[in-house]
Amino acid sequence: MGLKPTVFVTRKLPLAVEDRLQRDYQARLNPDDQLYSRDEIIARARGAQAILPCHTEHFPADVVRRLPDEVKINANFSVGYDHVDLEAARARGIVVTNTPDVLSDATAELTMMLMIGAARRASEGEKLVRERLWKDWSPAFMVGTQVTGKRLGILGMGRVGRVVARRARGFDMQIHYHDLRPLPSTEAGTYHDTLDDMLPYCDFLSLHCNVTPATRGLIDARRLALLPDGAILINAARGALVDDDALVQALQSGKLRAAGIDAYNNEPNVDPRLTALPNTFLMPHIGSATRETRDAMGFRALDNLDAFFAGREPGDRVA
Ligand code: DGY
Repeated sequence: MGLKPTVFVTRKLPLAVEDRLQRDYQARLNPDDQLYSRDEIIARARGAQAILPCHTEHFPADVVRRLPDEVKINANFSVGYDHVDLEAARARGIVVTNTPDVLSDATAELTMMLMIGAARRASEGEKLVRERLWKDWSPAFMVGTQVTGKRLGILGMGRVGRVVARRARGFDMQIHYHDLRPLPSTEAGTYHDTLDDMLPYCDFLSLHCNVTPATRGLIDARRLALLPDGAILINAARGALVDDDALVQALQSGKLRAAGIDAYNNEPNVDPRLTALPNTFLMPHIGSATRETRDAMGFRALDNLDAFFAGREPGDRVA
């Protein structure tokens, strides 16, 4: 049997995933879960045929160009791949893969939590109890808005968006969606040809699309203004889809009643204006953070590596 390929793993992975990695590869693990700088990534990739990174490691064109020649595949532990410059990877002949499907349930679950948490003022309520500031109950105390029966607009009816729609139907929500094309079944909900057309129908707007040049900053002041007054914005996808200045302004003015957010610009340094507002329900990018899903993401990344090194096409190739 030939030498096992060397895989440089940038973050600490679930135990079962690291066990399989060590069984099948020369695995360069990160037991202390250090966050490597771009220079460290380039240096540590020397002699490795594969890198297994997370979305916390960024591979813009200049980093991709400086990767050692031996690196042939970047098998991401994430469904999102906006942290990798795909053009640069193609130019270098580096295959890029992601981990779709396996995190749709966990992310949809968190999306429902964001919707309910934002609508029912979960942050404010928890703070009152934890800080022993809760003094009384009255009919006017901590009144939020109901999720049940409201209109939910889903931007991006891909894998996660479709599961969110299914879960939301359990809350009798009316589903509206926008994507490049409608789904074959009309049961999916009401399709809108353009995002602008859909926005006036969204009591809740939930973002589930990739970051591309076309979607970066898509949710800006003009589009927020098209939402009904008192709408709620949910973002469990990527911060880059939203213009933070416009979001803060809409939350401050009451145009948006609330926002439930799990993904931010400039993570983990969340815009302090968002943390200062009472009407935000904020989570630290944990959409896929369940034991089941993190194992499945790791195994999916390994399946992609296995296929590549066996000379087959990796199932989740994005470049
Ligand atoms: C993903 O998989 O893209 C999640 O955001 C975690 O990286």
